[in-house]
Amino acid sequence: SAPVITVDGPGGSGKGTITQMLARKLGWHLLDSGALYRLTALAAVRQGVSLDDENGLVKVAAGLDVAFEPTPEGEPVKVILAGQDVTADIRTESAGDNASKVAVMQPVRDALLQRQRDFRQAPGLVADGRDMGTVVFPDAPVKIFLTASAEERAQRRYSQLKDAGVDVNIDALLEEIRVRDERDMNRSAAPLKPADDAQVIDSTGLSIEEVLDRCMAAAGQ
Ligand code: C5P
Repeated sequence: SAPVITVDGPGGSGKGTITQMLARKLGWHLLDSGALYRLTALAAVRQGVSLDDENGLVKVAAGLDVAFEPTPEGEPVKVILAGQDVTADIRTESAGDNASKVAVMQPVRDALLQRQRDFRQAPGLVADGRDMGTVVFPDAPVKIFLTASAEERAQRRYSQLKDAGVDVNIDALLEEIRVRDERDMNRSAAPLKPADDAQVIDSTGLSIEEVLDRCMAAAGQ
């Protein structure tokens, strides 16, 4: 089957940007698995399904009508849910928080598993997530685990939001990041951790270009 590069790590580690750049450089497909968890939570809220109704959430996850539309270089991939552009809606802090709540449920994860594996197509796939190397593509030839300190991730998120004209408090952001990390690492379903055969790259203090170079080197490119 087609080769896969898995890129796992906590939120704000630069994974999103790096995986998009890697996929473009290599001309490979991209899987943003976090978007599927964000979409499941968003679709549930819109359909009036409670975020602790496990059976309801499994149905929402299994029935997600989603399309990822390519965009020009530098722009985030467009995410279409049931014909509606939800690219911005799934990127809010609350969408991320809701995603991490539905992601603790093993049956919800199971409902999204095959959909993720279907992205593995020629000439190759770059897969962004928390459990790409441990659960979804355990046989991937290249596994990267991207980290950065919580302070640095909060600072990056703060700058992004500031550029987008959103006024936020950096201490509140840092606290949200810590809460989400805690939930992702301590859950029993696919906890966030590097695969045994992953190469760990700490992006604290590195520029995007430096991180990309290290990832390309890790991928043997
Ligand atoms: O990466 P992103 O911030 O979009 O992910 C949102 C949430 O979805 C994460 O905090 C995590 O709880 C969950 N997630 C997951 N497994 C993945 C990708 C995301 O559990 N492969």
